[in-house]
Amino acid sequence: MNGSHLSHRAKAIRPSPTLTVSALAGEMIDRGLDVVNFGVGEPDFDTPQYIKNAAKKAVDDNFTRYTSSSGILELREAIAEKLWRDNGLICNPRDILVSPGAKASIINILLAVCDPRDEVLIPAPYWVSYTSQVEMVDGYPVLLPTQEEQDFKITAEQLDNQLRELSNPKALILNSPNNPTGSVYNARELEDIGKICLKYNILIISDEIYEKLIYDNLKHVSIASISPAIRENTILINGVSKAYAMTGWRLGYAAGPTEIIKMASRIQSHTTSCVNSITQKAAVVALREDDGSVEKMRQTFEKRRNFLMKSLQEIPHVRCCKPGGAFYAMPNVSHYLMENKRNIRNSQSLCEYLLKEYHVAIVPGSAFGAPDYVRFSYANSLENIEKGLHRFAEGLSSLL
Ligand SMILES: Cc1ncc(COP(=O)(O)O)c(C=O)c1O
Repeated sequence: MNGSHLSHRAKAIRPSPTLTVSALAGEMIDRGLDVVNFGVGEPDFDTPQYIKNAAKKAVDDNFTRYTSSSGILELREAIAEKLWRDNGLICNPRDILVSPGAKASIINILLAVCDPRDEVLIPAPYWVSYTSQVEMVDGYPVLLPTQEEQDFKITAEQLDNQLRELSNPKALILNSPNNPTGSVYNARELEDIGKICLKYNILIISDEIYEKLIYDNLKHVSIASISPAIRENTILINGVSKAYAMTGWRLGYAAGPTEIIKMASRIQSHTTSCVNSITQKAAVVALREDDGSVEKMRQTFEKRRNFLMKSLQEIPHVRCCKPGGAFYAMPNVSHYLMENKRNIRNSQSLCEYLLKEYHVAIVPGSAFGAPDYVRFSYANSLENIEKGLHRFAEGLSSLL
């Protein structure tokens, strides 16, 4: 079989660079090597017991059949309650679509709204799947570069200038708290951005999957809550993966305008049908009950972040914005990509060198459209963070 049968779509898709580092680190670990893995994009905690109990009950109750494609009503009601409680949004359960992960929610929405060559704006650094998903629906990703000095956030003015240049702008994908930078947009910034989106009549796809992981007493603000007009133009994306340590359970959701949700739901009915029925029952309990685990995990992440930031500051020539949320930090390593003993010139080669010779796995910033940076995930124990940072510092210093 040769490649001639492959679609242009398949050929255009690049392998996920974050998974590539994890895979290589995984192989080294399997070979018995002691690798500190900062590449992981998921909490290292177990799913809280009260949620697991709900899943066991669902199995015992034989809740094991197909459900309605958009998700069981009980869950969509629990999501509507959550949107009111946490985000001040009144949402009809009819306007919510439950999908196998927020990743699936986003592509369902893109399939429902994008025509070929529609332009979708994506602030860079960006989560790797956004660009690939836009390409998969034959849309065109337009990157909006951000600066470290502005905490990696786009400005309304920048968005306005870019939109003026485009011929088919369809949507902006906003992600706060952000993967990979940890940046968090405040209400004022969101309002300014929302107004520009209204001016050009483009949709906002607001990925809020890291909502619960936010530090320094910052408060997560959903752009949908800024004004009724912005809300009508926004599809809010969220899920249970990161907040409840449920990455393998696969459940995300989209909430937004009736027609878009209805069409996205129709698309899902012809692809994955519905989310695993047991996961849906577990998610109802995750959202409605609270045994304190989410807050405990958040506090642990905050301690790790503080420790990681302190350790990074001690490394010469490394600069890092303080991440306000999620569990990532993205230090600038450009100094080490200039003159060095190994002739390393980009973040990909730097990460390969650090992994192979210092047994520390970090993701190259080039994966996220930020070639002068590397991404650390601090979903790892304090002990490992200390060990890994020591290796990172040693690896860097021996380059000079
Ligand atoms: C920004 C962002 N959005 C969405 C997702 C996907 O989450 P899910 O597990 O719900 O598909 C991730 C996972 O890494 C993410 O980082």
